[in-house]
Amino acid sequence: MATDLSTTFTGVRFPNPFLLSSAPPTESESNILRAFEAGWGGVVTKTIGLHPVVNVVGPKTKFLRADADSAHLSMKKRPGAALHSSWNWELISDKTLDWWVPRLGRIKRAFPGHVLVASVMAGSGNDTELRHWQELAVACQEQGCDALELNLSCPHMDRPDMGSNVGKDKELVSIVTKAVKEVATVPVWAKLTPSTTDIVVEARGALLGGADAIVSSNTFTSLPLIDMETLDFEVHVDGFVSTGGLGGPAILPLSLAKMSQLTQAFPDKSFSGIGGISTFEHALNYFLLGCGTVQVCTAAMLDHAVGPNVIRELNAGLTRFLDAHADKGWTSIADVVGLRRDRVVAQSKIRRPGEKDYRGGYEAEGYAEEKELGIKK
Ligand SMILES: Cc1cc2nc3c(=O)[nH]c(=O)nc-3n(C[C@H](O)[C@H](O)[C@H](O)COP(=O)(O)O)c2cc1C
Repeated sequence: MATDLSTTFTGVRFPNPFLLSSAPPTESESNILRAFEAGWGGVVTKTIGLHPVVNVVGPKTKFLRADADSAHLSMKKRPGAALHSSWNWELISDKTLDWWVPRLGRIKRAFPGHVLVASVMAGSGNDTELRHWQELAVACQEQGCDALELNLSCPHMDRPDMGSNVGKDKELVSIVTKAVKEVATVPVWAKLTPSTTDIVVEARGALLGGADAIVSSNTFTSLPLIDMETLDFEVHVDGFVSTGGLGGPAILPLSLAKMSQLTQAFPDKSFSGIGGISTFEHALNYFLLGCGTVQVCTAAMLDHAVGPNVIRELNAGLTRFLDAHADKGWTSIADVVGLRRDRVVAQSKIRRPGEKDYRGGYEAEGYAEEKELGIKK
């Protein structure tokens, strides 16, 4: 019997738990159709807004690579270098809602069994902007979108009431989520920024607003490196750069730490994990920490724009994994979600050598006497 890769997440049935995240791979109708043909279980559209945006002159995304035999990191293409990360300063879709609406309907009709999630973004702080969120949500769900993802996390929006500027404010996160929930007939996922002190705070805001799932991570706020010879940033326009977002392999461990905080704080809630995934081995980390689905961007961008080989390997990896563990009775990825969530503990809970005791710095035991440290009074 063929292994069943399907899963249900926030009440929506997925052919498999792998999605393309909101980014260039999902910026057009043709890309999304190709992605479904290639086998992705779902796609999240490039973020749709009401107003047109204008991107920078020149490249919006570049890839940082590391040498195997030196510490050199550079975006310059060279043989033998391995991918370290992607860096981008691309804004949301430069196509407006009117452009997207007929396309969303056509995509959904062509692939009714695959999951189409609309990523949307408007401003915040007044009723007009909240109505914009509602307008976007209603228009997308009317075209058959299976869920809505709120972009509360783009790290390079100029407007202080958009993107990660909203995502950094737990009250705004809550208000925006609640406004969308008031009109939504499909599940609402909140995509949060990792660039805050404690992502659990913003997640609580989203859940209080009624979010059906938390999605993390968007890209991490970052800068490209400066070229030693030209003294220019490796990405710049007329010598200038602004902060952008880091994705790809470099953020996998960072994003896992954020996800671990989230799934431990809200063990009964739904999570979609993103950050540095290109193989099933990477994805499995997110599942074991408590994610029901995962999303991919950088690896897909580098694989024929929509990741046909990446999704083939993800599906093959999941099949191999379920077959190898059939004796445990695992028949779906849902059976392993969260299995390692509680293995992340406070440092003081990790065993010390011998009989030594350590209480997390709260008690005197374990501290050296001042005289042992050579501290003179
Ligand atoms: C060029 C580029 C554009 C992106 N645009 C969006 C966007 O419009 N909306 C969004 O929610 N995330 C956007 N992202 C973030 C990705 O969806 C994803 O969260 C991030 O790249 C981390 O995943 P990765 O490590 O697989 O790249 C973008 C990322 C890149 C590299």
